[in-house]
Parts: sequence; structure tokens; C-alpha cells
Amino acid sequence: MPKRCLQTLLASLTSALDRPPQVSAALAQLSEDAWFDLQFEPEVARERYNLSLPTFPPDDVQLRFTGLSARDNLLQARSFYEYAIARSQLRQAANPRILDFGGGWGRVSRFFLRDAPARRITVADCLTDSIHWLRETRNPCDIRKNDVLPPIRGLSRGFHLIYAYSVFSHLSPVSTRTWLDYLIGLLRPGGWLVITTMARAFLDHLAGPGRDTLTNEYGGLLPAPEVMQARYGQGEVQFYPTGGGGELAPSFYGITLLPRRYFLENYGSIFVEFTEEVPRVNQAVIALRKTPINATPDTARSKGYPGER
Ligand SMILES: C[S@@+](CC[C@H](N)C(=O)[O-])C[C@H]1O[C@@H](n2cnc3c(N)ncnc32)[C@H](O)[C@@H]1O
Repeated sequence: MPKRCLQTLLASLTSALDRPPQVSAALAQLSEDAWFDLQFEPEVARERYNLSLPTFPPDDVQLRFTGLSARDNLLQARSFYEYAIARSQLRQAANPRILDFGGGWGRVSRFFLRDAPARRITVADCLTDSIHWLRETRNPCDIRKNDVLPPIRGLSRGFHLIYAYSVFSHLSPVSTRTWLDYLIGLLRPGGWLVITTMARAFLDHLAGPGRDTLTNEYGGLLPAPEVMQARYGQGEVQFYPTGGGGELAPSFYGITLLPRRYFLENYGSIFVEFTEEVPRVNQAVIALRKTPINATPDTARSKGYPGER
């Protein structure tokens, strides 16, 4: 067989192998509403789309991870998912690889199951409890338990999208910097890092009607809301080491507010957006884009996604 034909055959075989049975054209065509509703209809997903969706952990487990449960919890995850998909133009990417860093029990990763084969979606977390619930709910993604500092063992570079919901809302400054640099290193050129951090909504919440209850909840480990608001206004990074149970030691885990200035000063050349306007997401969302090959940081930014900075 001529070399060229062999190459074409190999390429189409590879592409067929990359297209898993569960990522069907029918699934890809579902509206966002229908895809959301399907999350609660596992039999329909199996029969109509040949897709085995993960189950859900009990409400108390969900509350422990994000303070929400059931439909509300998924609505928040959906909104973040839709932002990340649109921002990273994931649906235009050929064979994307995705990493959910600090994936918890898998609340967000389940939404990506119609955008990529499960084996191309990695969910990493350092918490034994998280890995337990990912397995217990039969999450089909590539599940990895990492140490509290990088690397994530066995992971190669080349991700189109890495996201982390409510993870950089908790990490110490050293841990933040180390993980951000590492994760950016895992992106392919032009790849996207989409993360969240505590911001104004959290400060408003602290200063609001539940103020006294919240003070108890954080065991007096946070300063008065007014102090935190003033620090935030001055563009200070704030980290209060509360710990989070299990592997989440106070040495690196607590309450973290990273202001917009932090990203401009440290990641200005790849900074795309800092927004507190993603519906239902009560944290700031930050989008960084690794410079594409053959592009200066400025052209990369302006071509990457139309929108504000
Ligand atoms: C508030 S939960 C959010 C879980 C999930 N992202 C979601 O939105 O449902 C924070 C998660 O970050 C994980 N995490 C914190 N520090 C981490 C680290 N150094 N490496 C990996 N995961 C980490 C925690 O174990 C936990 O699962």
C-alpha cells in the first residue's frame, strides 16, 4: 500500500478510536436545557444516547463540597460549564483534552461528557473523600489523586481546557502560584485556564444578615467583613488558613480572595478576563489563555475571544 494511503487509513482509524460511542451526534445536538434535564434521567441517557451518566452523592456530601445540593448545585455547575465551553471555544477544537483540577465529587465534569470522550477528561483532586465519591458515583473520567503540590503524576501536557471551580478560592499564596504555573504549563498553545476565586459576593455574604452565624462557622478565623472589604478594595491577596478536613490542611487551605490585580500583575500577558457576572456563580471567574504558537501575547488575546478584559 502506498505510504500516503497508509497514513490516511491510520489517521481515520485513530480518529474513529478517539470518537467514543457515547459522544454521539445526537448528544452533541441537544440544547443546553435538554442536556441539563438529561442529568436527572439516567435511563433515557442510556437507552437513547448509549451514555452511562454518573450517579449523585447524598445531599450531605454535596453540601460539604459546595454548600449546595441537588438541582441548585447542578445549576451552578452548568452555568460555569457553559461559560468555560464558550470562552475556550471548546466545541471548535479537534479532540480536546480537558482537566478538572480539584474536581470534588464530579459536579462539573459530568457536563463535559458530551464534549469529549471520558478518557480525555481528567478529574484530579488531593482529597481521599473526593476520589471515593468520584468512584462511588461511577464517574467514567480519568480520575487521579494528586498530592497537595504539583505534579499530577502521569499526566502529559496538551490540554485544551483546564478549569478549577472553587479551588483557587481556598489555596494559600504559595500553593496558588505553584499550581497556576504548573497548570499553565500543562496547556497546549492557545489552551485555556478557567478558574474561580472568592470575590465581592463572598464579602457581601459575610457582611449580610447571617453575619453572626458565619463568624461562628469560620471559628473567628476571618477578620471583620469591613476589614476584608478594605483589603479587597486595595487589591490585596487575602488568605485565611481555616483548613478543610482530611488532606486539606490549614498550611495551604482556607479562604482565599485573589483580586483582579493579582492576575494582571502575575499573568498579565495571558490574562483575558476577570468577571463576577457569570450567572449563579457566586465567585469571580478568571480566564487565562496560553499564548498560541506564532502569536504575540497581544494578538493571541485579541484573536482568542471577543470581549472585555
Ligand atoms: C469547594 S470544593 C469544589 C469541588 C468542585 N470543584 C466543585 O465545584 O464541585 C474544593 C475542591 O478542591 C480540592 N482541592 C483543594 N486543594 C487541592 C489541591 N492542592 N489539589 C487538588 N485538589 C485540591 C478539594 O479537595 C475539593 O474537592
